Amino acid sequence: MLDSLFESGWGAFAVLLLLQLPFMLVFLFIVASRTRSVAKPNPSSISFAKTSWLSVVVILFVAINLASINYIPAVATAWMQANEKNITNVDVTAQSWYYEMSQREFEVGQPVRFTAHSVDTVHGFAIYEPGGGVVFTMMLVPGAGKSSLIHKFEKPGVYKIRCLEYCGVSHHEMNDTITVKEKSS
Ligand code: CUA
Repeated sequence: MLDSLFESGWGAFAVLLLLQLPFMLVFLFIVASRTRSVAKPNPSSISFAKTSWLSVVVILFVAINLASINYIPAVATAWMQANEKNITNVDVTAQSWYYEMSQREFEVGQPVRFTAHSVDTVHGFAIYEPGGGVVFTMMLVPGAGKSSLIHKFEKPGVYKIRCLEYCGVSHHEMNDTITVKEKSS
C-alpha cells in the first residue's frame, strides 16, 4: 500500500511535507509562546503586523517548496516513473576503482534510469554536466541493494562521472564519462 505513495510525484510530495511537519510545529509553537509572553495586556489578540508577517512566511514556505520540489532527484524520479513511457535502463556496477556501465551514450530529452550498486566498498556515482555543475549524486553501499534515479539530460556534451565517497588509494582516479548527443530527429 505504501508503494503507491512512492510511485507518483504527489506521493513523494506528501512524504516531503510530512517530513517538514515537525519543523513547522516547532516554528508555530515558538511563535505562539512568544506572542503570549510579549502581548501580556491582551493575550487573546495577535497584532495585525504579526498575522501578516506569519502569513508572508507561510506563503513563502509553501511557494518555495512547490517551485523547487521537482528539482529534488527523488521527486523527479517518482514523477518520471509515473509519467514517462520510454525509459532507457542503464546498469551501473561500481568497483574499486572503476564503473561498469551498460550504456554510455544518450540523447537529449531521453529519460534514463541509472540503477547502480557497489560490489566491494562504499562508492559514489556523481554526474557532472559539461559546465561543471552536479546533476545528481548517489551513494552506493555494498549489500544495501540497488539504488535508481531517473534523469533527463537537457544539454548535449560530455558529462563527467566521479566517485564522491572516499574508497581507498585510487579514489581520485575513479571516474568515467557519458556522452549526450543532440536528438536524432
Ligand atoms: Cu570509489 Cu571513491
